[in-house]
Order: sequence, then C-alpha cells, then structure tokens
Amino acid sequence: MKSILSLLSVLLVLELCSGEWCYQSQFSCHDTCRGPSEWKNHYPNCGGQRQSPINIVTRKVKHDPKLANFIFEGHEKVFNMSVENHGHSAYFTLPHSVRIRGGGLSGTYKAVQFHLHWGENGDHGSEHSVDGEHYPMELHIVHIKEKYDSLREALNDSTGVAALAFFFEVTSGQNKHLDRIIDALGKVRYEGNSTEIEDFRLTDIIPQANKLSYYRYLGSLTTPDCDQAVVWTVFKQTLPISKKQLMSMDKQLLFGTEQPMTGIFRPVQTLNGRVVYTFLPAHGLCVLPNLITLFLCLFCVFGQQRCFH
Ligand SMILES: *[C@@H]1O[C@H](CO)[C@@H](O)[C@H](O)[C@H]1NC(C)=O
Ligand SMILES: *[C@@H]1O[C@H](CO)[C@@H](O)[C@H](O)[C@H]1NC(C)=O
Ligand SMILES: *[C@@H]1O[C@H](CO)[C@@H](O)[C@H](O)[C@H]1NC(C)=O
Ligand SMILES: [Zn+2]
Repeated sequence: MKSILSLLSVLLVLELCSGEWCYQSQFSCHDTCRGPSEWKNHYPNCGGQRQSPINIVTRKVKHDPKLANFIFEGHEKVFNMSVENHGHSAYFTLPHSVRIRGGGLSGTYKAVQFHLHWGENGDHGSEHSVDGEHYPMELHIVHIKEKYDSLREALNDSTGVAALAFFFEVTSGQNKHLDRIIDALGKVRYEGNSTEIEDFRLTDIIPQANKLSYYRYLGSLTTPDCDQAVVWTVFKQTLPISKKQLMSMDKQLLFGTEQPMTGIFRPVQTLNGRVVYTFLPAHGLCVLPNLITLFLCLFCVFGQQRCFH
C-alpha cells in the first residue's frame, strides 16, 4: 500500500514537472515548475545579453537627440476587443488599425495586444523599476513592425517589436475606465476562457502621445522564450488606479494551474552595458521664433525640468 502511494506521488510530481515555466509566485514545494531563475536553462534567449525588464537608474540615463514625440493612430477609435486568459496573463487583442510611429522608432508599428503585470494585494507588481522603486502594476502594449503579419515573424528581427510600458500609481479617486477591464478579467477566470469588451478605445486608458516623456532601451520579451527583439519605451507619466481597484485586480484570474494569478512579473535583469536613453518633450515656448524665447529655451534646456513648472 505504502509503495503504491509513493509511486502515485512520484507520478504526481512528474506530472507537475511537465516543463511549464512559471513565475516565482507559483513556485512551491508542491509545484516544482520552472521559475524565472531557471528559464535560461530551458529557453536559452532568457540568459541573453539584452533581457527585460530592467531597473532604470535615472542618474545614468542619456539624452538622445534622435528621440521625438510619438504619434498614435487609431487610439481614439472604438472597437470590440477580445480578452483571453492565456494561463500566465490575460491578453486584450488590439486591431492593426491601432498604430504608433515617431518616438525615435524606425517606422510604423501596428498593435497586437496589451496585458498587465501585477503583484499580490496591491504590492510591488511592475516589471520595470525606476531607481529601484517598483510600481504596483504595469501596462504593456505590444506592437510589431508594419511589414510583419505575426508576432512570431517580428520576433526574428532585433527591433521587430515595439512595447510601450505605463506604470500605475494609486490615486484617491477611482479610474472608471478600468472597471470594464476588471469586469472582463472576472469573466475569463480560467485558462482558455475569453470574452469581449464592446466599444473600447485606447484613449480611455492611456494619455495622448504628445508631451509624454519616456525612457528607451533595447530588450526582450519578459516571458519565455525571452526573444531579444523588443524596442522598449517606458513612459514617465503614470496611470491612475484606486486602491480598491488595484486590490481587486489579482483576485479575478487563475493561472493554468488554477492557483490565483498573483505576482505576474519577471525580476529585473542585468543591463550588460546597455544605455537607457530619455526623451523630454520640448516646452511649447520653444517653437516661437523669437530671440527672447530662444534664450528662455536655452535656459530651459540647461535648467532641465526646473523651468516653467
Ligand atoms: C461590437 O459588438 C456589438 C454587439 O455584437 C455590435 O452591435 C457593434 O456594432 C460592434 N462594434 C464594432 C465597433 O464593431
Ligand atoms: C528570420 O530571419 C532570417 C535572416 O534574417 C531569415 O532567413 C529567416 O527566414 C527568418 N525566419 C522567419 C521565420 O521569418
Ligand atoms: C472557462 O473555462 C473553464 C475551464 O476550462 C470551463 O469549465 C468554463 O466553462 C469556461 N467558462 C466559460 C464562460 O467559457
Ligand atoms: Zn508584459
């Protein structure tokens, strides 16, 4: 009897060790899935030299004169958006009519999907950090170069994917646009479940492109296979979320293993000599063709953000 039981438990362990990758939050004595530190042993890209996410050290970022404002296309148009639980996250599918250009990108990129990374009970949940500080949640909007038909194709190009990242910050008021997102997540509790959000538009959740400051670096997908094909843009402006909304995010979904979907972020990766660039939009005054404003602008550029605020 005892040996049958131990045979059964060996079989159970083998079953759970089925080679699935997982987040650190899923790893336990009972579930010996492959946590982030082991990803590289099974997905070689994850051990590469330009991995994401990273910690952004603001003291070390460099200005890049080639960076510019973004141009967002189709962000104000409504569409019906499907939402699916993929086992480690939920994907919100975007139509290719949503596009981005400018922003120092080499051309136009079309949207594929967006998803969120969060922690547990409103704790640290962002993937990127700034000067070592994490935010409670991070939005990723994934785009591919216009010429590609699929993400798979784009991943074969070192700048094939453009990912936009926004951090969330807790505010006293609630962000009513997020309620529809949270409701939709509640309808896709199990892996493979899907639903639809009607008449959605991206401007409901992210700001207009102009006047957005951002960080730029070259990195990878933050889940296996960790393909090193991503031009990352991390915006400085945060998105609002109430404490109550944040606390409900991680209660909506279950992992493929049917545990609560919490702690869905990869730890930060080493820079390996990469430089993080930054873009600050020019102040409105700078476009006036007048000598006095030119001096003001020079003052503005040297005095950095201190002016006119
Ligand atoms: C979204 O779906 C609803 C219901 O199926 C439909 O009436 C509406 O026209 C659709 N909207 C768009 C923009 O396709
Ligand atoms: C990936 O890129 C290489 C060379 O750039 C090319 O030969 C190959 O066909 C591409 N593979 C896919 C799947 O697009
Ligand atoms: C969600 O997935 C579960 C498990 O696969 C299934 O039993 C359930 O019927 C699905 N629910 C919906 C609304 O599709
Ligand atoms: Zn992501």
